[in-house]
Amino acid sequence: MGVRVKVAIIVDDISRTFQEFLLLPGLTCKEHSPDNVSLEAPLKKYKRGTDPAIHLNIPIVSAAMQAVSSPELAIALARKGGCSFVCCSQPVDMQAGMVKKVKEHKAGFVQSDSNLPPDATLQEALDMRQRTGHSTIAITADGSRHSKLLGILTSKDFWEFKDDLSSAVANHYTPLDKLVYGEDGISLQDATEKLWHNKKECLPIIDKQGNLKALVFRKDYFDHKSNPDELTDDHKRLLVGAALNTFDYLPRARALLDAGVDVLCFDSSDGYSQWQADAVQRLRKEYGREIVIGGGNIVSADAFDYLVQTADVDFVKVGIGGGSICITREQKGIGRGQASAVMEVSAARDRYFEETGIYVPICSDGGLVNDTHVIMALALGADFLMMGRYFAMTAESPTPVVTYRGRLYKEYWGEGSNRARNWQRYKQSEKQRLVFEEGVDAYVPFSGPLADKVDVTIAKVKSTMCNVGALTIKELHSKARVTRISEMTLVEGGTSNVESLDRIRIQS
Ligand code: IMP
Repeated sequence: MGVRVKVAIIVDDISRTFQEFLLLPGLTCKEHSPDNVSLEAPLKKYKRGTDPAIHLNIPIVSAAMQAVSSPELAIALARKGGCSFVCCSQPVDMQAGMVKKVKEHKAGFVQSDSNLPPDATLQEALDMRQRTGHSTIAITADGSRHSKLLGILTSKDFWEFKDDLSSAVANHYTPLDKLVYGEDGISLQDATEKLWHNKKECLPIIDKQGNLKALVFRKDYFDHKSNPDELTDDHKRLLVGAALNTFDYLPRARALLDAGVDVLCFDSSDGYSQWQADAVQRLRKEYGREIVIGGGNIVSADAFDYLVQTADVDFVKVGIGGGSICITREQKGIGRGQASAVMEVSAARDRYFEETGIYVPICSDGGLVNDTHVIMALALGADFLMMGRYFAMTAESPTPVVTYRGRLYKEYWGEGSNRARNWQRYKQSEKQRLVFEEGVDAYVPFSGPLADKVDVTIAKVKSTMCNVGALTIKELHSKARVTRISEMTLVEGGTSNVESLDRIRIQS
């Protein structure tokens, strides 16, 4: 007699990626201009008819990875309207310190990093200017950034080729009684007014004892004005997120919340787990509903229902095995094409919204190779996107720029690589070490400042939304019509039957 065996269920036709779809244009009306497009995206679940308690101004966040979300990158991204997640594959105090650095960054108030004591020479001032690139040097009692401010030395105070460079800066700087300055606690608006009224380039801020606290520059005001999407909290501090694991989440969350973190998110390669549900519930008991907790990563509707109903998360991260440095699918045969995962989880979110009136945002995490993928992920249902490689390539990521065969690169490694040793994200056994790698250690081309790159991506997203006839991401979700493409359509979409000038230039 034969034995009845149960076989695996085949859930859909084929696991699909963003590359396999194209958007079809919808009617573009006169109001569909990029200036009218809003890219706001909710970061916390909310009830029908209410506004989310917290939202992004652009639907982009940076990955919780060692090679990605430095405080510098978090500051640059929040200034553009997005948010970074500081990684948890580091000691609690280091992660909290990074969050604190972002929260303490006062837009417009700069910590003076070029300071000298009065007995330093003009030559030392010149050397410092060369090193830091800053022409404003604070002269303080002991030459440190927070000691008593004596005056300011700028290039207007001495002539490099006429003055004796061995003379002390004390003979040259403009003393405090001849400077316009602000008192600690002054608002950025008042500081800017002071700069404007007095036609000054720089305003030192001092406390009651005369100690230097910060500098406010005229040029930063213009910079601030050119970042209208800047993402700040109620106290005008930049927004920042941080990752948690299901091991030391209690002391970690405490330290991160004390440091001022705005959003927490569990960082797991497989979030469809009782560990994650228990951890979220425990945090809810401790800190209530107000704190924002994201869950994931998942790739299916049943996992969405579990994380939302059992675990009570505020948003859900989607994606397993699609990351650029990821080898999970090769190593373990688990995961799903990112487009299929996003489509199924988006459908589950919409169904849940219909049934309960509660909207739970979803984040498409990993595998976005170019700007068209960014647009496609949003069109297929994602509310916002998490990217690693995209940001690792920028000037603000924490790794140095390296040169290889005349080209510039940055290092980028997976959290599941031996280099990151993030065993909490990739729990493979009871041992606190990685038994096998799920990520690689790699290089990515250097792409320059984050702001320039994000500006281009956002311009493309807005332009495509106008083609579709959508002014918001929600409208894009409902209006997007996509077609699956053949390999030949892909070829047709690139340049064809012409010689690219770039290639001709390289050959000649
Ligand atoms: P990327 O934007 O394609 O580079 O993917 C970044 C995402 O990959 C992260 O947000 C994580 O979800 C995921 N990830 C990070 N490190 C690893 C790894 O070592 N293996 C698998 N996935 C990873």
